[in-house]
Amino acid sequence: MSQRTYITTPIYYVNDKPHIGHAYTTTVCDIYARFMRFAGREVFFLTGTDEHGLKVETSAADRGITPQALADENAAEFRSAMSMLQLEFDDFIRTTDLDHVRQVQAFVTRLREAGAVYLGEFEGWYDEGQEEYHTETQARELDYKSPINGRPLVRAREKNYYFRLSSFQEKLEKLFEDHPDFVRPPARRNEVLGRLREGLADVPMSRTNFSWGVAMPGDPEHVIYVWIDALMNYITALGLGEPESDRYSARSRYWPPAYHVIGKEILWFHAVIWPAMLMALDLPLPQCVYAHSFWIREGRKMSKTLGNFIDLPTIERYVGRYGLDAWRYFMATQGPLGATDADFADVHFHEVYHTDLVNTVGNCSSRVSAMIGRYFDGAVPGESPGGRRLTIAEHDWPALCAEAVRHSEAAMDRLDLAGSIGAALGLIRRVDAFINLTEPYKLARDDSRCDELGAILYQCAEVIRIASLLLWPVMPGKCEELWQAMEIQIDPRAGRLHELAEWGGLAQGQGIRKTALFPRVDRSPSGDGSPSGGDAACAARLSSD
Ligand code: MSP
Repeated sequence: MSQRTYITTPIYYVNDKPHIGHAYTTTVCDIYARFMRFAGREVFFLTGTDEHGLKVETSAADRGITPQALADENAAEFRSAMSMLQLEFDDFIRTTDLDHVRQVQAFVTRLREAGAVYLGEFEGWYDEGQEEYHTETQARELDYKSPINGRPLVRAREKNYYFRLSSFQEKLEKLFEDHPDFVRPPARRNEVLGRLREGLADVPMSRTNFSWGVAMPGDPEHVIYVWIDALMNYITALGLGEPESDRYSARSRYWPPAYHVIGKEILWFHAVIWPAMLMALDLPLPQCVYAHSFWIREGRKMSKTLGNFIDLPTIERYVGRYGLDAWRYFMATQGPLGATDADFADVHFHEVYHTDLVNTVGNCSSRVSAMIGRYFDGAVPGESPGGRRLTIAEHDWPALCAEAVRHSEAAMDRLDLAGSIGAALGLIRRVDAFINLTEPYKLARDDSRCDELGAILYQCAEVIRIASLLLWPVMPGKCEELWQAMEIQIDPRAGRLHELAEWGGLAQGQGIRKTALFPRVDRSPSGDGSPSGGDAACAARLSSD
């Protein structure tokens, strides 16, 4: 296992407002980054905003402001959304940062020097209103008219710089063959491979029809195509274009990344164009491009036309109602990390919250702390009377915990968040079953069985403590609350997970307060989706108080 790990989200377009898609990808990376840092690795977690391109230029013009002002405004919104969701990145890159712009130009110059770029002429059917080209086939299907305003398409030519993607055909095929995990999950890999085998065409890497972008070095009439500029954020943030500069010397060692986490719609750029660019630049390739699927809502695709996006105000309502940790838990365990889309259904959220958090994590920890309160005055009992640990009902808890920790970390390493969290929840479910089996409340009536009772409750509390270490990356707030109640001080950023997860961390005699981590929540009658959902629920709660 490499001790250094770099994980990235896509950089988000500033012509959009933050929504569940952005929140989801960033939360996945945040959980991975927190876990790995806690496990002692050196982690660099990058996110940021993609700020150039025609759309930003046009939206800004529509509002009568400069593109930079629009970018500043929306980048700030993304940052504040991320801080609300407690997403702790190491850097937030913006493609308008001068450090980025300078390095993009240096890299494009390197690509040209390496012979990977040429000036070519492109001819096609141009939609003047949309500033968009159509191929012959598309134009024929459109009857040579703009699908938007119906005006005739015109035959136009444009000189553009091209990246010689076609010359990387064999190298890319070999990459996919030699590294079956380069693109995950496998269904996505197969899609890319299928398209790759159809043959690669060169891709334009500059435009001349707008100016909001990075100027082509040596030919400032051309603006570098926004995707080329955007993909390079992954290397410019680490300063790979200026490794000798002080700011970056400590960062460049994080390259290459363990994961580029992206959504499935932008896979081709990341799985084909990006590795080809890196090959041309002679840089090592990422270990894995992980393309997750999409959230849909109540069984329907989210779209601007339907107006059913889970936007920031909706996210805030869920956070307000169920708590931030519950939101993060739902993202992590129910999200579309696999090859199929995941449904964000209000009733499902409500159920998962109650089943996993209220009835499992919350209930088990309050049950155990309450019994320690009742039978041992709130002080942790011992598990080893006379110096020998009592093994109750053949439960070898230290071994079970060690196995869960291994499993949880290995799953997180594969970016299997649900598997990693499942290992911790599995421990807690076992504690519940252990309590039902050993019935400590009955033993409490028999003074002669006090040692046994103490050992049982010690073991329950100790397992909960160990499970909470594994749950911290997904639910930092609630786990820290639990640690306070257990009088333990932990700084997860100090990277001592393995040491802390060793059996026996709880000391006999230390205090444990009763905790109620996850309160029951009434379900809003209309679900949370409608704008009145939150208010109606609030009113219902007030009137029932
Ligand atoms: N700017 C480009 C990325 C450049 S990366 C070098 C971009 N930006 S975006 O703002 O459109 O963000 C896209 C990302 O949002 C996707 O990769 C995906 O992570 C996320 N999602 C957008 N809609 C989504 C869902 N409905 N569900 C889950 N995530 C989706 O593309």
